[in-house]
Amino acid sequence: MTATVTSTSAQPAPVGISFPDGFVWGAATASYQIEGAAREDGRGPSIWDTFSRTPGKVHAGHTGDIACDHYHRYPEDVAIMADLGLASYRFSVAWPRIQPDGTGPVNVRGLDFYDRLTDELLGKGIDPVVTLYHWDLPQTLEDRGGWTNRETAEAFAEYAQIVHARLGDRVGTWTTLNEPWCSAYLGYASGIHAPGVQNPASALTAVHHLLLGHGLAARALRSAGAQNLSITLNPCEVSPLDPESAADRDAARLIDGLANRIFLDPLLRGQYPADVLEHISRLTDLSHIKDGDEAIINAPIELLGINFYTPSYVSAKPGHPGAPDYPGSDGIAFRKPVGPVTDMGWQIEPASLTRLLTRIHRDYPGTPLLITENGAAYPEVPSENGEVHDLRRIEYIDAHLRACHDAIAAGVDLRGYFAWSLMDNFEWAEGYAKRFGIVHVDYTTQQRVLKDSAKWYREVIRRNGLE
Ligand code: NOJ
Repeated sequence: MTATVTSTSAQPAPVGISFPDGFVWGAATASYQIEGAAREDGRGPSIWDTFSRTPGKVHAGHTGDIACDHYHRYPEDVAIMADLGLASYRFSVAWPRIQPDGTGPVNVRGLDFYDRLTDELLGKGIDPVVTLYHWDLPQTLEDRGGWTNRETAEAFAEYAQIVHARLGDRVGTWTTLNEPWCSAYLGYASGIHAPGVQNPASALTAVHHLLLGHGLAARALRSAGAQNLSITLNPCEVSPLDPESAADRDAARLIDGLANRIFLDPLLRGQYPADVLEHISRLTDLSHIKDGDEAIINAPIELLGINFYTPSYVSAKPGHPGAPDYPGSDGIAFRKPVGPVTDMGWQIEPASLTRLLTRIHRDYPGTPLLITENGAAYPEVPSENGEVHDLRRIEYIDAHLRACHDAIAAGVDLRGYFAWSLMDNFEWAEGYAKRFGIVHVDYTTQQRVLKDSAKWYREVIRRNGLE
């Protein structure tokens, strides 16, 4: 890896950087966000079908019924990926396509779709990275308690095996869960995501069953011969607003426990952190954590996926109700974003990514890291000449790639970067109102147009670095 100065202008010269040989360049999507075809080929209903139909839950009543119609247009989408030079594509499998009721009979037509997609990718030299759960839980399982029910973890392992049995001969990298933080806290605490439950104890039970589901699935996949296993988290750098204040530091430690260590410690150290257990024991009786569970969760993995967007700053504020996403966080306030923000209102702070990666590498050594998502929502649409000038997205990704490079230079074993997202798509509670794609999607015509960021990313990939 060499750093070279490539500009000769009088301006401060941008420093060119290159990434290590073999650094994986990719883009990511998720089933419910892009596929559409919600009732096709035997797919069962998911919690997002139900939630998006519940008045007031999703912006403007949007649903994933059609989304980007990727289910039918995947050859065109894979051709776009090939045109961009992606080495890898991260997509998720919709559990309700595979087992419409979450357990029991397998819907072969659902497997057929992912089979076709995998072959299309491989035919273009693109390596598939499969996520088994990106939030579209079969509704039947939710009717039985969803992730608050231990049986969902067991069902997940069975489903994982079914998908692996069909694709395992061609898919090398398997990710069990995407962002269990969101599934648990947004799904069962604040309720801003499906299934929309608002119960702190349920959220904490869901955290455990999601992790258990990961461990059981990892074990099942391993015994079926899978060799490259991972989970994707969305760890967040949580800092005290006033580093000099002991109360702010305590607040940051508590939120860091609920946001990060509650996942990372059992996954990579085989034990929940004592301070986190103590905190949550005030909200649940912990009876859902059985002897031996932590060892299951601690299943060996070859990669840890990191989704990164923005940092958090917290302070102690007696009397404050806390954040609805974080069980028992009363008395803690999150600072409103300062400085530039994306269209999601998320603060832009690339250096936070370097610090986060460095910390994970230091505290949980030995597991290579992969940026499985990073990107930004901005509203630009095609101008009259059909071009999409999304300069701010280019700047966002450029700055975060530099942050990744800094982490690598500091010794972090970072293996690749997946842009979120390949194309504009259904942004959960925000519906189609927020556009994260490097490719623009016109939802009326389903026309895809490469934004400037996609063209720029193609050059980054070609160069394996930045100018
Ligand atoms: C993380 C999630 O995995 C993805 O589904 C979502 O669209 C992005 N963050 C942006 O919010």
